[in-house]
Amino acid sequence: MWSLVAIVAACGCAKPLPEAASPAAQLYASRCGSCHRPYAPESLTPSMWRVQLEAMEPKMAEAGLPPLSAAQQQQILSYLQRHAQQPQ
Ligand code: HEC
Repeated sequence: MWSLVAIVAACGCAKPLPEAASPAAQLYASRCGSCHRPYAPESLTPSMWRVQLEAMEPKMAEAGLPPLSAAQQQQILSYLQRHAQQPQ
């Protein structure tokens, strides 16, 4: 069982999101996975996620997508930060 997990984790390609079935993961995948694939939460540190989330706002506005509400933003950010890469 654990060796299978290790193989899947080492691949890093089409890896499912953590807590894939949770509302936060689904919100993240639907709002942040339409222009590019939803990046793996563990690919960035918590502070980098905060910056990236803010950086996406003008892109979403340009594309005519509705902005994230404060609650959605908070939900996505806390989901990403919970699974983020731990800063050294
Ligand atoms: C309207 C389209 C669009 C949506 C929706 C979108 N992005 Fe992006 N995103 C982009 C583009 C275009 C880039 C390319 C880099 C750039 O232009 O800065 C990007 C780049 C990124 C990067 C940086 C990747 C790198 O290699 O540096 C991250 C992380 C990211 N987006 C996260 C998110 C998150 C989180 C959300 C949801 C809140 C989101 N994106 C929603 C268009 C979008």
